[in-house]
Amino acid sequence: MKLTYLGHSAFLLETKGRHLVFDPFISPNPKAAGIDVDGIRADYVLLSHGHGDHVADAERIGKNNGATVISNFEIVSWFEAKGLKGHPMNHGGKWDFDFGTVKYVYATHSSVLPDGTCGGNPGGFVVWNDEVCCYFAGDSALTMDMKLIPLTCPKLDFAILPVGDNFTMGYEDAALAAVFIECDTIIGCHFDTFPYVTIDHEAAKKVFAAKGKRLLLPAVGEGLSI
Ligand code: NI
Ligand code: MN
Repeated sequence: MKLTYLGHSAFLLETKGRHLVFDPFISPNPKAAGIDVDGIRADYVLLSHGHGDHVADAERIGKNNGATVISNFEIVSWFEAKGLKGHPMNHGGKWDFDFGTVKYVYATHSSVLPDGTCGGNPGGFVVWNDEVCCYFAGDSALTMDMKLIPLTCPKLDFAILPVGDNFTMGYEDAALAAVFIECDTIIGCHFDTFPYVTIDHEAAKKVFAAKGKRLLLPAVGEGLSI
């Protein structure tokens, strides 16, 4: 398993010989100028919701690679109309793919696609196979529904949680989310991209440490071994 941070909320997870790209927002992100979008290999593109800062490069990466978009029904339908392959899901549902199982879970946020089309309800993903189990929360606020994850999914090895505040959880709420999901290693995302989501890294790490949790705030392009 290999995880690479592509900036903002975008990640590349390599597991079981498959490449999974989450929420690609790279070409419009000046902080990700060092990432070559056309060099990204993807078998699947997982989209948590329809906002531009999560789907901006999905069509490009999807078409470059003939990748399958995994998201809610509304978002998958929108990308299928653009000629991409898709696998539609909705909250609470899981499916066994050739790399492992994906469960589409609740997120408290909003979701509209870049052209104003309804993006369904926003979500997150729990992904697991025999080498890893991880949770990608999308742009969620802290929600009690996160307590359902350890009750319904295998034990998490790590979780990717937004920590930038204003549009999503801030790091204080994300540290509580780490408690709710019973996960000790958290990778922060949705921070430092814009002035609204700029955070104090050391203060954030201290809040997590006080709860016995580890917060990683990767640099754009950084590979993470967990
Ligand atoms: Ni959003
Ligand atoms: Mn966002």
